[in-house]
Amino acid sequence: MQQAWLKYDVGQCGYCQPGQIMAAVALVKQISSEGRQISDADIDSLRNICRCGTYARIREAIVEAAGNM
Ligand code: FES
Repeated sequence: MQQAWLKYDVGQCGYCQPGQIMAAVALVKQISSEGRQISDADIDSLRNICRCGTYARIREAIVEAAGNM
């Protein structure tokens, strides 16, 4: 997940990033344990707020990491 975060240059101010990454890892592990692919609805279920509005890059990083974890 951290590698995907760096690849997509997700962080802006960085304030929310530790929580975003932890939530993303937990989500991907949950989806993986259910034996299915991550969906847009799964990512939409994350409720961490980013005041910098990096949601598009967060989404890209999660999709990439889900394929590699
Ligand atoms: S990167 Fe600034 S609050 Fe998310």
